[in-house]
Amino acid sequence: MRASLSLDTQRHRGEIDRRIFSGFLEHMGRAVYEGVYDPESPLSDANGFRTDVIEAIRKLRMPLMRYPGGNFVSSYDWTDGIGPREQRPVRPDYAWKSLEANQFGTDEFMAWCRQANTSPMLAVNLGTKGAEEAQALVEYCNMPPGTYWADRRVANGHRDPYGVKVWCLGNEMDGPWQAGHVPAMEYARRADQAAKLMRGLDPSVELVLCGSSGRGMKTYMEWDREALEYCWDHVSYVSAHRYSENHRNDTDWFLAEGVEIERIIEDYAGLFAYVRGLKRSDKRVYLSFDEWNVWYKANEMDGRWTRAPHLIEEVYNLEDALVCAQYLNAFIRRADVVKIACIAQIVNIIAPLLTKRDGLLVQSIYHPFRIMAELAAGKSLVPLLDCPTYTAGARGETPVLDVSAAHEDDGTLAVFAVNRSQTEPVTLRTALTDAVVQSVGEAEVLTGPDPKAANTWEQPNVIVPTAGTASVTEDGAVEVTVPALGFVGMRCKLAGR
Ligand code: AHR
Repeated sequence: MRASLSLDTQRHRGEIDRRIFSGFLEHMGRAVYEGVYDPESPLSDANGFRTDVIEAIRKLRMPLMRYPGGNFVSSYDWTDGIGPREQRPVRPDYAWKSLEANQFGTDEFMAWCRQANTSPMLAVNLGTKGAEEAQALVEYCNMPPGTYWADRRVANGHRDPYGVKVWCLGNEMDGPWQAGHVPAMEYARRADQAAKLMRGLDPSVELVLCGSSGRGMKTYMEWDREALEYCWDHVSYVSAHRYSENHRNDTDWFLAEGVEIERIIEDYAGLFAYVRGLKRSDKRVYLSFDEWNVWYKANEMDGRWTRAPHLIEEVYNLEDALVCAQYLNAFIRRADVVKIACIAQIVNIIAPLLTKRDGLLVQSIYHPFRIMAELAAGKSLVPLLDCPTYTAGARGETPVLDVSAAHEDDGTLAVFAVNRSQTEPVTLRTALTDAVVQSVGEAEVLTGPDPKAANTWEQPNVIVPTAGTASVTEDGAVEVTVPALGFVGMRCKLAGR
């Protein structure tokens, strides 16, 4: 099969915000304990941080790390997690029926972020707590010495403010499962009060309003509209969450997931335009897609009141990796709407990395993320794709390729393509209307023997990238073959026509 992609360096959707390559770390299962923090592991440093995990996360170049939840945050008292470790309480965690020993809290997270070369994106508890506690956390993190909570930070050994920029106003507050779940208007009032106090202390903070927790919610968009109308003046982003599933074991259907992801982004683009019009406002609000991934195989969520239980340790295969690449393609294509996105999560809990005390397993979904985070920069070019279709089960006729492209001012072009066909490779020709391709830099390919192939502790290199071959044509285009069930990420250099 052949497909052609037409690009024009002047036809773009603006700068790609690197924060679409962010992550999420929650106090859940073995994400924090035994994931990032494990003083008993031979692989940990003096802080108890797993150095192999840090090294793998650094390669993903995540600008932000969302923390501490998730559902966990909605009954979390952040003051439990600061001060001398031996004085911190053990608490029952409502969300995951686990024991939280609070040995890793805000200060440890800040230190971990520094080592992992990322920046904190903190969520405040708007479930069982409210505006006052949220404001106190901003004071603890961002105020100079001289006030009660800032001085507590100093007493805990951290003189300089952390300067946390991005804050989530609660988590999935539309969900009946959420501690402190309330109807939209009640949440809107809570969020608005918290926002005013938080920005009152630090006007530079950017706030994320809880949108719907999923497209399947009955109140999808209606919740978002009500909350956004009420909080418009104080928030910069609305959150979206999605977990993709293949319960029916229909790979053709599953691989068309990118179409649904883009539809969600479009829904929010419409909502933002509507509320902006209603308010006669010049302001722009953007999407924070701060939980996304594939999640449907591992469903154990009951910690049975133990510490660091094995919860939702999803094993990822090739088709999952191809869906993850489509999330990132959609975020790149809609750079005008999506400014933040966090893969949920980073280690052990539905994650690209799995740990055991003395080892690390890199899962399939790690690879497209690493490749795209490395290569995607600059402006998001509008892709005009001429490509065969296939029948994606109940989703109908769908383009066989899912693509995105990025262009930097220095003439660097990056192209990413997923081939949804299970049988046919596709040769993709990329041509620019206003430039020619001079040379090809990196080209990396991810594929595998079958859609369910996965890396395991016994065979950790089943799904790993290999070098691809892309070639410049005589007329200044570039051609690359995307294998069946495959992903390609490549970078080339352009010159003017
Ligand atoms: O990421 C796991 C959980 O999924 C999060 O805690 C919650 O926000 C979502 O429902």
